[in-house]
Amino acid sequence: MTPEVKKLLNELTLEEKAGLCSGKDFWRTKNIDRLGIPSVMVSDGPSGLRTQIENGVDENDSRVAVSFPSGCATASSFDRELLKKEGEILGEEAMSFGVAALLGPAINIKRSPLCGRNFEYFSEDPYLSGELGSAYINGVQSKNVGTSLKHFAANNQETNRFSVSEIIDERALREIYLPGFEACVKKSEPATIMCSYNAVNGVLSSENKWLLKDVLRDEWNYNGMVVSDWGAVNDRVLGIKADLSLEMPFSGGMTDSEIVQAVKNGELSMEELDEAVSHVLEFVLKYKNIRENGSFDMEKDHAESAKIAEESCVLLKNNDELLPLKKSSSVLFAGYFAEEPRYGGGGSSKIKCYKMTNALEAARSEGISVDYAQAYNKDFLTTAAELEKEALEKAKKAGTVVVFAGLPESYESEGADRTSLEMPPVQNELIKKVAAVNPNVVVLLHNGSPVTMPWLENVKSVLECYLGGENIGTAQIRLLYGMANPCGKLAETFPLRLEDTPSFMNFPGNGRTAVYSEGIFVGYRWYDCRKMPVTFPFGFGLSYTKFEYSDLKLSASSIKDSDILEASVNVKNTGKYDGKEIVQLYVSDKTGVEIRPEKELKGFEKIFLKAGETKNVTFKLDKRAFAYWNTDTKEWYAPSGEYEILIAASSRDIRLAAKIELKSTSKKAFNITTWTTMGDMLKNKEMAALIQNDYKKARKFMDEMTDEEFEKKFPFPKSAMLGMILSGPFRSQHSKDGKTHDDIKKMVDDLNRRLDNAK
Ligand code: BGC
Repeated sequence: MTPEVKKLLNELTLEEKAGLCSGKDFWRTKNIDRLGIPSVMVSDGPSGLRTQIENGVDENDSRVAVSFPSGCATASSFDRELLKKEGEILGEEAMSFGVAALLGPAINIKRSPLCGRNFEYFSEDPYLSGELGSAYINGVQSKNVGTSLKHFAANNQETNRFSVSEIIDERALREIYLPGFEACVKKSEPATIMCSYNAVNGVLSSENKWLLKDVLRDEWNYNGMVVSDWGAVNDRVLGIKADLSLEMPFSGGMTDSEIVQAVKNGELSMEELDEAVSHVLEFVLKYKNIRENGSFDMEKDHAESAKIAEESCVLLKNNDELLPLKKSSSVLFAGYFAEEPRYGGGGSSKIKCYKMTNALEAARSEGISVDYAQAYNKDFLTTAAELEKEALEKAKKAGTVVVFAGLPESYESEGADRTSLEMPPVQNELIKKVAAVNPNVVVLLHNGSPVTMPWLENVKSVLECYLGGENIGTAQIRLLYGMANPCGKLAETFPLRLEDTPSFMNFPGNGRTAVYSEGIFVGYRWYDCRKMPVTFPFGFGLSYTKFEYSDLKLSASSIKDSDILEASVNVKNTGKYDGKEIVQLYVSDKTGVEIRPEKELKGFEKIFLKAGETKNVTFKLDKRAFAYWNTDTKEWYAPSGEYEILIAASSRDIRLAAKIELKSTSKKAFNITTWTTMGDMLKNKEMAALIQNDYKKARKFMDEMTDEEFEKKFPFPKSAMLGMILSGPFRSQHSKDGKTHDDIKKMVDDLNRRLDNAK
């Protein structure tokens, strides 16, 4: 706590302190003039500023700002530097609007492709989400503007978002839903963290002490301010106790007086209130007078928005090298998205954008002439006979047809989940019909989350543009015509069918709860283990050039879990074009100690290579890259044994692999109890060493008999007997060896002691 805050806490009255714990209006904190405490303003984002001039959320009252590609797009860039740069630009815009904190990034995990807000979120993978979120935060905060990392935690659906209880097991929370937040907190210390609306395991996030205090504050050492999502507060006093400092927006004084009352009747201590107030004050004082009435160059930022989009689009298919197109070729653009691209998602992130540049305008300004047919109505949902007729007639004559398709805003937005993966039928039909009359079809997709592609076999090329911001048209033209080379890769799996998705049976739940029965098997972790075919896998994306991988080297063949392992690999651009490759590193646990995904992303680098050029890429891996959350010891644990380091061009395109032997320095994998079995202990190298003799003794009678002798004596085969030896808990030994309960307890205590003293 700074001396200034300490002093203010001494001077503030109880009522003033309580007042500071909720907003003054929709976007501002309260000022206390007699003590010189100013009011500061926050503003929505995250992919552009949605700053309200007055109170409220009226879009007409929102300031004009530049719209950048949404999180679904920027995540596909796999580019930390790009996210940092986007953050810096947004930080500058925010500064000149007098904004103290930008309400983003939003990094919830894409549990289901149906979540209505997936367009804002980064990925199904927590490592990628954390790396990119942290880069964005570093960018914004480098401009002395705070961020609000949101929505903490598990806001993975919009259905009943205010009340649904997300039922998530401990490993899934620790390994999937929390690590992105943890990485952002530890690497970038966001000025504020916004709690989610939903409950986690029965406790609303806004009053979830485990989440906000035990994990965030005490384990991760977070020093900033926790703010409620807008209207997420239920019991304000419980919230303060759980470390929720600021309630937003305003409470009309009601919750302020509840706080006062609670202090007076002893339900809430002054220390607890001071803790909350101190975080509000520290935030306000840090971000107060540095707000300048500056200006920023919207035209420049508009151009930057296209560059970011260019780095984010993903080339999903390109048969016969149909792309890039020649400027002189005869091309038809079909579909109203060419005129009116969907640049961002609906809800709090909706930007009143500076100006739109669509693909038709962008082509024109590059001196490229294309034919155009609107093809479907402006609602994106229906067509008219004459529109379709015009499109097909023009398509027959064109050398290449670029179909502009995607999801209209009514299909995905904050506040509601999607119910299917299909695009509007009219658009799927259009693509099929165009492909029937022209062999050279390119589909450009505008969507915030995966769609099915029933026409995929019929078209040669697909470019996923996601929601690419206000200057997506420029990016599209540069990519289509080879002025830029596509270099994004999918940050999420495109499944074949909704029924294949991991959360299918439990999304969005029954209204009251959503049970995450898929546990840690989210996204590619699920599809991989189940060996399921998908439309496009996580990490996939093509380029106009080709890359070859070679010379994977590890800095050691065996390490301790306290060491850092370095993996390096050479990547060569073997094609004709300069281009960027996203090199991915996955770790695969081969120890067999715990149920784990087949592989997990633990490193990625994006590199630029001129045609013919080779570069070396190096990754550093620490214990967390190998570890899982051990629910028994409540810590990250990497069991001793073998792991594989996989270097990949996508989660399903492993180019190189190398084995590494790891030695755990953790004393115990778990506490031995009377329920523990020999099998449990043998799985673990350290524990196995401890009971080797007992194990040999237990199976001695078996080992001394031939299979035939054994089967004459016992009514089952040796393998079944071995299974019984391995799965019998210590507590059952009394029936075998005549041990008393006390004997067994002593044996268990002794094993625990020996294990504790083992190293
Ligand atoms: C959204 C937040 C947003 C806030 C303020 C809420 O409904 O969930 O992401 O920042 O509103 O607009």
